[in-house]
Amino acid sequence: MMQQGYGDPLTREALLSYLEDGEALPRVYVYDTLDSTNTAAKALAVEVGEDTDPCLIVAHGQTAGRGRMGRSFYSPPESGVYFSILLPSVSCLPDAVSVTCAASVAVMRALRRLSGKQTAIKWVNDLYYNQKKVCGILCEGMTQAGRQSLIVGIGINLRPAAFPEEIREIAGSMEDGQTPRAALIAAVYTELLPYLLHPTDRSWLTDYRTCSMVLGRQVRWMRDGVWQEGKAYAIDEDGALLVSDAHGDSHRLCTGEISVRLTP
Ligand code: BTN
Repeated sequence: MMQQGYGDPLTREALLSYLEDGEALPRVYVYDTLDSTNTAAKALAVEVGEDTDPCLIVAHGQTAGRGRMGRSFYSPPESGVYFSILLPSVSCLPDAVSVTCAASVAVMRALRRLSGKQTAIKWVNDLYYNQKKVCGILCEGMTQAGRQSLIVGIGINLRPAAFPEEIREIAGSMEDGQTPRAALIAAVYTELLPYLLHPTDRSWLTDYRTCSMVLGRQVRWMRDGVWQEGKAYAIDEDGALLVSDAHGDSHRLCTGEISVRLTP
């Protein structure tokens, strides 16, 4: 596999060296360039058939990284990590909101442990550092030949990048040139796998609430094409955001397809 000049090895061997022995070791696939690791994970889910081993698909860069709500995810090779965890055969697909919440906590913990930097979580699953989005997560479920597969795709901007004009206001990086990419990916995998294997485990909730940058804030959310406004006052057991509007009515926002904006 070609190295792209980042300096640290992002190889199958490096990844395996950072993975803990006790964890269900994944099948690891590392690519120089992919269109999207989530798309590759879907193809792999078909290919592996009945095999239940978790898979970790990593790309140095993506040419068509996908984001939530049909958006793209800027994925240049020199500045970030892009990977997908595939569980090719799960008995039932867990609720998407709780999986994405657990994933954001896993990334937050891994970044904190390896770089010492604290990120904030914007509901439902974006991570912010220095007021800029540094991580996006896209969870997808797939049913094929009677089997259900779960894919969690994660992109983390580690180093500053020449972000395209349209995302320059929002996107940022961890400003981290130290953390080995393989160590970060392995740490996220190690943090997240238990939650994916045991979706009813809600022990991510405390960190999710503590690190929320939305709780206690005025938010706007789009529903059926109309912006609504209220104050976020709680996150419930399933990761749904509870907001109360100006009339005192409560709303439970429980789909990742809702766009939430913080208001000043
Ligand atoms: C978002 O911010 O809307 C989610 C972005 C998710 C990006 C990651 S990068 C690895 C994986 N492959 C993709 O195509 N998307 C996810």
